[in-house]
Amino acid sequence: MSQSTARVEMKKINKSFSGVQALKEVSFEVRGGEIHALLGANGAGKSTLMKILSGAYQADNGVISLDGQPLSILSPADAKRSGIHCVYQEVDTALVPSLTVGENIMLDRGANAGGKRWIRWNSLYKEAEAILQTIGYALPVRKKVEELTLSEKQIVLIARAVSHKAKCVIFDEPTAPLSMEEAERLFAIMYRLKADGVACIFISHRLPEVMEVCDRVTVMRDGQNVWTKPTVETTIQLTVEAMLGKSFTEEYPKARVEIGNPLLEVHNVRSGVKVRGVDLTVRSGEIVGVVGLVGAGKTELSRLLFGADRMEEGEVLLRGRRVRLHQPSDAVRAGIVLVPEERRKEGILVEESVRANITLPILRKFAGGGFVRRRAEQEHASSMIRELGIKTPNAEEQVGLLSGGNQQKVVIGKWLSTDAEIFLFDEPTKGVDVGAKRDIFHLIGKLAQAGKGVVYFSCEIAEIIGISDRVLVMCDGRIVKELTGEQVTSENILLYASGGTNHVQG
Ligand SMILES: Nc1ncnc2c1ncn2[C@@H]1O[C@H](COP(=O)(O)OP(=O)(O)OP(=O)(O)O)[C@@H](O)[C@H]1O
Ligand SMILES: [Mg+2]
Repeated sequence: MSQSTARVEMKKINKSFSGVQALKEVSFEVRGGEIHALLGANGAGKSTLMKILSGAYQADNGVISLDGQPLSILSPADAKRSGIHCVYQEVDTALVPSLTVGENIMLDRGANAGGKRWIRWNSLYKEAEAILQTIGYALPVRKKVEELTLSEKQIVLIARAVSHKAKCVIFDEPTAPLSMEEAERLFAIMYRLKADGVACIFISHRLPEVMEVCDRVTVMRDGQNVWTKPTVETTIQLTVEAMLGKSFTEEYPKARVEIGNPLLEVHNVRSGVKVRGVDLTVRSGEIVGVVGLVGAGKTELSRLLFGADRMEEGEVLLRGRRVRLHQPSDAVRAGIVLVPEERRKEGILVEESVRANITLPILRKFAGGGFVRRRAEQEHASSMIRELGIKTPNAEEQVGLLSGGNQQKVVIGKWLSTDAEIFLFDEPTKGVDVGAKRDIFHLIGKLAQAGKGVVYFSCEIAEIIGISDRVLVMCDGRIVKELTGEQVTSENILLYASGGTNHVQG
């Protein structure tokens, strides 16, 4: 048993951003020794509440206390001094890309070292290695953070947070970029923290894992706390209803679409060890699912097909004509677009408005005689905001100020607007809530109906089964199996995705 289990309380917290109230009288409590889920639709206010607790934002009013003692948290340093740490949702904002893994993990230490200004590099790297080891991840500590994948960056942040003697650790959507295996390891870390009496707050849109891991659940909607309950007293269904404020069934709306001629043909595409000779065909009206575990090469393949990385070998044909993809603009011109996984890095301009981001790829459409037709551009942006349910005060809001899930919707809106023929989606639903997921599936269905070709890359088996006409299983840089009709089952997908070669049933 632990000696000191903290109780962190937030009472009647209010927060507005330029007149828009993001939090209304929110009370929230978490105790040492529990894992407490904080749930809600995109833009509900989860991250804002946690940024207030961890000192990144200040509440307009309300009280925060630790074990009954009021706390004054005016900066992240204050929060850390009180033992409150946060693994932020936007990993890139919390890391220094040009520094190494080890330096990033030990980043806050300087502040605590008092007079000691000398950095002992060897001991820094040793310590960072030891921390990674205790949480069960092997990452090269001397590698630059800018060379890491999204999930590796997440691990650096987690290592940094758990390395402190924390009383309360906030995990803001840490599992979104992680594979199931990596997520399991993260849960093991959370269980260990819990056993040590640490209060863990866990934000996630993957509700099954929430139900499995958490002791209590708090649901937020429109900046308010709807309820807090022990996990055993609720269900996914009830939780989703509380999040959305209405009853909801998860479904994959699949319209019947005539599948036409091949649009995209890919032959023997290669790049290093990540993509080792891939062939695939996408027909008009067809949704091809490419499924594989994290690290199977899906992201790399999608980037090759978008011209974002260099192909070492292979050819790509669009309507039977060879296209050269040296850079993304080649792909866009040819009619191939990609909704990428890592939105902050390559999907959006965070300092630009929602409107500018959405209309950027199609600005030419609105340009006539040297002028951009503002009205038409605005109308188009508004319709995308409506269709995707993007939560923003108006179309001119900076994208960087939207909630994480709403930024993702902007990325999707941006590429959906183009009149491309081939749409590549790389894990588009990472971090979006269940309601928005359905909207996205709906829009992808509409693309197929309009005769476009869609390639949907994902490690979420349920999504792949729900949305695809045909499934390609990727493993270790290759397409190892094509599944259609009755063969498309999660057992078969898992079998081939993990390198199995048994005969397919069905
Ligand atoms: N710095 C800011 N300036 C203006 N508005 C902001 C700012 N930070 C958050 N907001 C707004 O506050 C609301 C709540 O956002 P928040 O990020 O807390 O949502 P969330 O519940 O974490 O959603 P998600 O699941 O998408 O991450 C949103 O409408 C968002 O646009
Ligand atoms: Mg958030």
